Amino acid sequence: MTMQDARQISAAATPGVLLSVRDLQVHFPRARSGWFAPPEVVKAVDGVSFDVPRGKTLAIVGESGSGKTTTALAAMRLSPITGGQIRLGDTDLGALDGEALRLQRRRMQIVFQDPYSSLNPRERAGAAVRAPLDLMSVGTPAQRSERVAELFTAVGLRPEQQRLFPHQFSGGQRQRINIARALATNPELVVCDEPVSALDIAIRAQILNLLARLQRELGLAYLFISHDMAVVEHICDDIAVMYLGQIVERAPRRAFFGNPLHPYSVALMSAVPTVHGGRRHAARRIKLTGDPPSPIDPPIGCRFAARCPVAEPACAAEPQPLREVVPGHWVRCRRVDLADGVPQAPLRAPQA
Ligand SMILES: Nc1ncnc2c1ncn2[C@@H]1O[C@H](COP(=O)(O)OP(=O)(O)OP(=O)(O)O)[C@@H](O)[C@H]1O
Ligand code: SF4
Ligand SMILES: [Mg+2]
Repeated sequence: MTMQDARQISAAATPGVLLSVRDLQVHFPRARSGWFAPPEVVKAVDGVSFDVPRGKTLAIVGESGSGKTTTALAAMRLSPITGGQIRLGDTDLGALDGEALRLQRRRMQIVFQDPYSSLNPRERAGAAVRAPLDLMSVGTPAQRSERVAELFTAVGLRPEQQRLFPHQFSGGQRQRINIARALATNPELVVCDEPVSALDIAIRAQILNLLARLQRELGLAYLFISHDMAVVEHICDDIAVMYLGQIVERAPRRAFFGNPLHPYSVALMSAVPTVHGGRRHAARRIKLTGDPPSPIDPPIGCRFAARCPVAEPACAAEPQPLREVVPGHWVRCRRVDLADGVPQAPLRAPQA
């Protein structure tokens, strides 16, 4: 463990932090490719640390396969973890299993990308929202019915719509049902895994506004996963950029969008013409060549080196630590410098 990692871990005791994840690792064993071949391991998540404060949103962004969903599922203890620590408030989630873990489940819920496939087509909307209450034996049956009606109203549906089946709703309404179901047990944390990616552009803003209102009213914390910087800029308080199982940059929203530092972050931002608070500065796109390396045998040095436009030989020679260049702004790149106390990105998007 480096000094920087140790400093990250000491942050676990920070008041106001709801979810605290330290050095999370999720490695999936794979079948051997041949009789004498060594066993292979997919390092889907490889030393990820972050905090989600109560009532705030941390966005995790990155390309497909970077490990966003695996990170979220592991942080909720919905999939096995290889190593690391997870705390939810005062509870050491990593140490729990069985009934003790089940009791914690109502504190955290998840909303998935595809609002249709996450609903059972033969189950009425009301029953879908009620299911977690029945499963966790929350209140009396009459209280549960009352709660379901309340939840329908809270997400902008009418209580009479409980009788309908999923196919009788639009995509946006189905996502509202999923959100109502996630809220049924009064969670403190909701993981939103690409919650608007499958929706029409016109509907996206409505669902994002709904999530923002529910956050304000209920004090929810969100772990918001997306590959879309433009969506994230509107919803997050803090952002973490993932590349090949690791966080390469982590910062408060303003610091990040005002001065993205990691070459991968800069490349991701350059793909979004309207990023930067609607200033519509159209940065020209930085084209990333090639695919990310395999998570089975990730490079020992900077994992982005093979695609980085400003790589130097030293970058690939040794692991790059995630370091705090100015308070709160962490980056995993040896070429980020300070000039007069201001961090300088080694790669800047060409202006259009
Ligand atoms: N159960 C599993 N067994 C083996 N490998 C897995 C498993 N789940 C995920 N992976 C691998 O782990 C890596 C990270 O996957 P993950 O689904 O977390 O990425 P993601 O960032 O959520 O991508 P997307 O944007 O496509 O949803 C990928 O290489 C994936 O193939
Ligand atoms: S460490 Fe080197 S290769 Fe990696 S992102 Fe920074 S400049 Fe690019
Ligand atoms: Mg995913």
